[in-house]
Amino acid sequence: MACIVYYSLTGQTRKFVNKVAGFDKYEISSDKEAIEMTEPFIMVIPSYESHVYGDVIETAEEFLECGDNAQLCKGLFGGGNRNFAQLFCVTVKELSVLFDIPVLHGFEFQGSPLDVATLTKELEEIDQYEKIEH
Ligand SMILES: Cc1cc2nc3c(=O)[nH]c(=O)nc-3n(C[C@H](O)[C@H](O)[C@H](O)COP(=O)(O)O)c2cc1C
Repeated sequence: MACIVYYSLTGQTRKFVNKVAGFDKYEISSDKEAIEMTEPFIMVIPSYESHVYGDVIETAEEFLECGDNAQLCKGLFGGGNRNFAQLFCVTVKELSVLFDIPVLHGFEFQGSPLDVATLTKELEEIDQYEKIEH
């Protein structure tokens, strides 16, 4: 069953993913060892410029480099703030290039009901696809 892997520095992303019902969530942080996932997941990462707040992208990179995690990560959701203009959702854009994983969606702060529905739908689609494949 698909799950959500996320990072949250100030709690907005945590509030967003906790609004998604029916799927397991796993929070990564710089003080936890990366774990090897065994099921597909969507990664939800807030945006912080990597040259200033390197911990965020480094933690996400270490997680994706662990075991088969990069293959199991079916897509990225970026948290951010549109006031950052071209830097909106910059962290998932960088991860997308580094790991060849698509950016599925960008949202602001703790997300709107539409953002919650979008993440739910993407997770459901992963599970449906897995059922057909296996
Ligand atoms: C210091 C700082 C830098 C930020 N840089 C960006 C940015 O470059 N691009 C962006 O879209 N949002 C940026 N944001 C907005 C955060 O990504 C946004 O508030 C997000 O919801 C925070 O998630 P979190 O509370 O889970 O850490 C920044 C916020 C802060 C406080």
